[in-house]
Amino acid sequence: MSRLLLKDVRPYGEGDPVDVLVEGEVVAQIGANLDVDADEIVHADGAVLLPGFVDLHTHLREPGREDAETIETGSAAAALGGYTAVFAMANTDPVADNAVIVEHVWRRGREIGLVDVHPVGAVTVGLKGEKLAELGTMRRSAAEVRVFSDDGHCVHDPLIMRRALEYTKSFGGVVAQHAEEPRLTVGAQAHEGANAARLGLAGWPAPAEEAIVARDCLLAGHTGGTLHICHVSTSGTADILRWWKSRETAGQVSAEVTPHHLLLTDDRLETYDPVNKVNPPLRTDADVLALRRALADGTVDCVATDHAPHAAQDKDCEWSAAKPGMLGLQTALGIVVQTMVRSGLLDWRGVARVMSERPAEIAGLADQGRPVAVGEPANLVLVDPDAEWTVRGAELASLGENSPFDGMQLPGRVVATLLRGRLTAHEGKVRR
Ligand code: DOR
Repeated sequence: MSRLLLKDVRPYGEGDPVDVLVEGEVVAQIGANLDVDADEIVHADGAVLLPGFVDLHTHLREPGREDAETIETGSAAAALGGYTAVFAMANTDPVADNAVIVEHVWRRGREIGLVDVHPVGAVTVGLKGEKLAELGTMRRSAAEVRVFSDDGHCVHDPLIMRRALEYTKSFGGVVAQHAEEPRLTVGAQAHEGANAARLGLAGWPAPAEEAIVARDCLLAGHTGGTLHICHVSTSGTADILRWWKSRETAGQVSAEVTPHHLLLTDDRLETYDPVNKVNPPLRTDADVLALRRALADGTVDCVATDHAPHAAQDKDCEWSAAKPGMLGLQTALGIVVQTMVRSGLLDWRGVARVMSERPAEIAGLADQGRPVAVGEPANLVLVDPDAEWTVRGAELASLGENSPFDGMQLPGRVVATLLRGRLTAHEGKVRR
């Protein structure tokens, strides 16, 4: 059995450094100055040890747009970003709305072996919002799909949404909603506010998100189904979730926020650079601050990247023709450290909660988001909390280079990622 020794680590950033011995796939010993033989030693110099990150919202683009990302390049980006599990969104071409496609994505993820790739199944056939996809068949497939989403599109028909919540309830599934009332966002290009008005861009109003979030909380409560809200972007959505979760009959409702919505605002529109185009759009300072508070107090459960790589021709064009979306997997931790840890809103236990434990719970993963403790699966990430690094979009592992953080200095560097006891990334390099 392989033995890997992590020397001088600080689990959750607490206490004096200890050594962690990983044997095979599990944490075998934790203690000061362990006197053991190992096949490999990682000298951590007091780096923070956390459970590996889990991303509920990743676009891997395969099948169909392998010029933007593949399961292989996306898996590399995930490992380098500290992730041990990602959920691959269904808006591929063909759409992942059946057992054949989800099994392909799942198998390819296993073959590559850098991160657990869990395919998300589409809620409706072809993401068209008209007819439920074969959710039960995807659940019973080898990929054992549990999370369903039409992300990129809203399941806007309330009756279809109701049926999806009812049906997934029968097998413990989750419906992850891209909350966007389409009648309110026809032609929308940017957050509806002063900046978009000045620049002549059609607005994406906050109530288009909030109306769907409120409706779907009510439907989840009524049906007893399990709802997850994708990429929360407005302070009003945070208010609705806070109110909903305060009710005794709230049922199962969870929500995610992206790193970019925790940091960037629509002031970025000024340059007309489509790297800043994303759906839902970048919003205001007040929204950013409300989202940080909501993440800190648990109103928003977790961080999810909405990693959305695009090929150059889909971004290097005028604003209205550009596709929405930005890279996220390799910069998520840095942005969470900058916006949440350095501001005192979260400690490292909090980071473990929002980037690993809650997403694993929401998706029902038994072997991820586990405590850093003896006997637990060694899905781990080692973080140097003091290291600062400069993002270079072209050097990230993704095929797309559309990072709005290009050139930015970020705190918190991933030193190593372990998947079931095996190093998948170390010192900025993928380990195969
Ligand atoms: O910005 C986005 N890009 N938002 C989405 O909902 C979809 C995603 C994509 O697939 O590129």
